[in-house]
Amino acid sequence: MGCTVCVGAQWGDEGKGKITDWLAAHADYVVRFQGGNNAGHTLVIDGVQTVLHIVPSGVLREGTCAVVGNGCVIDPEVLLQEIELLTARGATGLDKRLLISDGAHVILPFHKRVDKAREHAAGSGRIGTTGRGIGPTYEDKAARRGMRMVDLVDDQRAAKMVRAGVMYANSILDALGAEMYRGAELEDMIARIKGHAARLRPFVGDATTRLHEAVENGERVLLEGAQGAMLDLDHGTYPYVTSSNTLAGHAAVGTGLGPRDIDHVILVAKAYTTRVGEGPFPTEIKGPLGERIRDRGGEYGATTGRERRCGWLDLVQLKYAKRLNSGTHLALTKLDVLAGFDHIKVCTAYKVGETELSVPPRAPEAYADIEPVYEELPGFEAWEGSPQSVDELPEGARNLIAYISDALGIPVAMISTGPGRDQTIQVDNPLNP
Ligand code: GDP
Ligand code: IMO
Ligand code: MG
Repeated sequence: MGCTVCVGAQWGDEGKGKITDWLAAHADYVVRFQGGNNAGHTLVIDGVQTVLHIVPSGVLREGTCAVVGNGCVIDPEVLLQEIELLTARGATGLDKRLLISDGAHVILPFHKRVDKAREHAAGSGRIGTTGRGIGPTYEDKAARRGMRMVDLVDDQRAAKMVRAGVMYANSILDALGAEMYRGAELEDMIARIKGHAARLRPFVGDATTRLHEAVENGERVLLEGAQGAMLDLDHGTYPYVTSSNTLAGHAAVGTGLGPRDIDHVILVAKAYTTRVGEGPFPTEIKGPLGERIRDRGGEYGATTGRERRCGWLDLVQLKYAKRLNSGTHLALTKLDVLAGFDHIKVCTAYKVGETELSVPPRAPEAYADIEPVYEELPGFEAWEGSPQSVDELPEGARNLIAYISDALGIPVAMISTGPGRDQTIQVDNPLNP
């Protein structure tokens, strides 16, 4: 059986964590392949909420092996905190079923300081990053001066690399007028990193070979994306994007699997749209209606607590995401949030003057002239309990699901009707055909 990839199809926070946890009931491996703890993936199991930032969301299924792939960036301190949280949540055997790729890059304290100093210096031109050091870490990776997990667990090499990294970071901090690292602070950093390395060493290994063997043995591998298509470094709303490739194609590179190992791509999308941070958002609703969606959907960042901007579903954007990802299935989330609205709007095209655009433009300035073209669909009332089949949903909700599925030309595999694990309608599960 080939691998299944589950990716965000909008600007992140689509409910990937919840969907991945659901799918992981039938997976042997759950794998992150890009991003770091800029991600916040929320699971609600038996009423208990767990937010994961770097460990894949299927980890609370005892039968899975959780892998953090080489395409990720890892903050050792955050990873250790997460291991502690998971242990407190009752996850057992993590020493045997959590594997961190020795090729993943390490987020160091100076990456976070540079990230924040850059944002501060940019003022109104800021990206609105999560401040977790993601961009600076991927920059060091591309510049071939980054530290990988294989280096972290070698104390001598790690110390040398931290010193070199700090020298370089200081030159940037100095230019930005931010506080530089000096003697005692640097020595303290090296000592702390050595402590983290000692605790993480048992988890670090050759994840690529493990995944190759898993595929060869016919085991079921589920890959979990972070962020979403419109935050992709190449195809998102650049420069208002993250610093990694968030698309399903990167699931291969970010793990070492081959592209032909992937059979299914599940696009996770909300029944409306949200975005956190700066950047273009054609269907954004400002004012009371947007606030109503934010309140109903609890749209506050799982990582930074920031308010998420809210707007109607954008099919121009979603169709683009489907093509970019070779989406085979849709997981539609947060349908319940739209209950109680008289009408539900769906954007079907972008109008710029007399012309209509069917794909998002490249230039950020081009978004200023976009008028979304909307189709208005009838609303629907809230339902009782947790429906387990589409037939139990009100007609308006069923129409909306069919409308989106038709527009994208792919079947709906799952519908999420609430944050809880069991508030899920399963139509089709590629991992359990
Ligand atoms: P992710 O980053 O894609 O994993 O998504 P987040 O966890 O950042 O944000 C999704 C939020 O919506 C979380 O608070 C989830 O608990 C919640 N959620 C997920 N699915 C649903 C749903 O179908 N309905 C409602 N009301 N909340 C949901
Ligand atoms: P999950 O996986 C939503 C956004 C930030 C900012 C931009 C760049 O939970 O969906 P970065 O810190 O990555 O350099 O910030 O990307 N961003 C996210 N938005 N969900 C996420 O992750 C995000 N990760 C980064 O808000 O606009
Ligand atoms: Mg999130």
